[in-house]
Amino acid sequence: MNNESRLIADFAAAGQGHVFAFWDQLDANARQRLLADASEIDLQELEQLCAIHLDDSHSATLDLQGLEPAPYIVHPDHGGDVELWKRAYLLGDEALRNGKVAAFTVAGGQGTRLGFDAPKGTYPTSPILRKSLFQIFAEKILSASRRYGVPFHWFILTSHVNNADTVAFFEEHNFFGLSRDVVHFFVQGRMPAVTDQGKIILAAKDEIAMTPDGHGGSLRAMLRSGAVDIMRKAGIEMVSYFQVDNPLPNFFDPAFIGFHVMHASDMSSKMIPKRSPDEKIGVFCHQKGKLKVIEYSDLPEALATETDESGNIRFISGSIALHVVSREFIARVGGGEADYALPFHRADKKVPTIDIQGNPVKPEKPNGVKFEMFVFDALPYAKHPVVMEFHRKDEFSPIKNPEGLDSPAACSRDQVCQWTRWAIAAGVPLQADEAGWPGFTWEVSPLFADSQAAFDAAWNALSEKPEIKEGTVLR
Ligand code: UD1
Repeated sequence: MNNESRLIADFAAAGQGHVFAFWDQLDANARQRLLADASEIDLQELEQLCAIHLDDSHSATLDLQGLEPAPYIVHPDHGGDVELWKRAYLLGDEALRNGKVAAFTVAGGQGTRLGFDAPKGTYPTSPILRKSLFQIFAEKILSASRRYGVPFHWFILTSHVNNADTVAFFEEHNFFGLSRDVVHFFVQGRMPAVTDQGKIILAAKDEIAMTPDGHGGSLRAMLRSGAVDIMRKAGIEMVSYFQVDNPLPNFFDPAFIGFHVMHASDMSSKMIPKRSPDEKIGVFCHQKGKLKVIEYSDLPEALATETDESGNIRFISGSIALHVVSREFIARVGGGEADYALPFHRADKKVPTIDIQGNPVKPEKPNGVKFEMFVFDALPYAKHPVVMEFHRKDEFSPIKNPEGLDSPAACSRDQVCQWTRWAIAAGVPLQADEAGWPGFTWEVSPLFADSQAAFDAAWNALSEKPEIKEGTVLR
């Protein structure tokens, strides 16, 4: 039996023979396409996943026994130890100066909620110059590289759905001034979508409905793509991990990185207090001595709404998907050794498919199950994981929805408020209302300043200080 016949026979034996139902109608190229998709699928793994996830709802497999709120390092503004934070800052500053940190963006998602039909990183986001998310990140990296005198590397996770468009966008914009040698794209793995009966879904006669394997797939993709080797060669010991949808944070944050170093941690996380019990963010919890994130959709309402003696939300510690992850931990988890395997989660989605005649079908309601891994599921495997409290206004304004909360308009406003805070603290005569809004839109390029400290330095160095008003841009 040749490889092709063996593969087809394996699918038939696994009850997935329908994948080749149109084989006789396919020309040689179409057959190759279908075989390429099929050869990516681990039939045994798929069978196990279906056994776990399709019998009942996925929450049946979720263990919520003994869940407690996770402890965290309190921010100095809320009574945290100022000296400890200073020590952490210095340690992080040193790690940055020695080139031990790289940026790491997960940008493989499909951004369906926003309804933007291109990679989310290309979304015009800054209020006046309409810089894309990718440009904002690139300029923050450039700015930090100049300050520390180190060419910081940037790893970007894409998926088969958006890799070509993402790379083309960077080419078109000449990598936003970064050297091409430090920007590394790598593509995450794929998983087949299945029906609730566990049958693999065809997207076309010659194509399996394959979907990205979740941002948890980034760790194994980093190892397989050689990104971990690049880190070893360049002496990079850790990555600062962030999502493509959030332009606010300083991902080369010395205090954050410093706490990670101080605790010899495998994986550290920023947290912000949840805005309300129903805010759609994951929650840091402790269970059987391990740190974990429980996704908002999995946290039972009774726990989400529970309050302590002072009336505060008990499970308060919101995960905003900002982590520092050590290189050798990525190698261990990405290597998929049994002790480090990330679980898959189930998501029910509308998956475009074909009917038995091969005609396209656009489903009106979810018809398929996707399997995804989440990066925060690595936390229980991490040695000395630490969680630190930071301020929402400096860390979190994601673009997720077209309007309302977490929308482009809200994010634009949050960017202006952040720059206004920096300016007022640097002594610029500006007024802002209680929410921090100055009453007009202006913009600070990350190349001018990417943090409060950088703003102070850049502003004080200006020989002629401009008036900040509607439309001002500091570059
Ligand atoms: C996510 C987190 C949630 C956290 C919130 C903060 C999950 C499951 N939940 O929710 O705990 O509080 O962000 O904003 O992650 N991505 C990939 N490949 C994929 C899927 C996603 O790279 O296969 C990337 C996306 O491009 C994006 C990020 O992961 O940068 C988050 O994905 P998304 O599905 O938007 O997560 P949320 O539901 O918003």
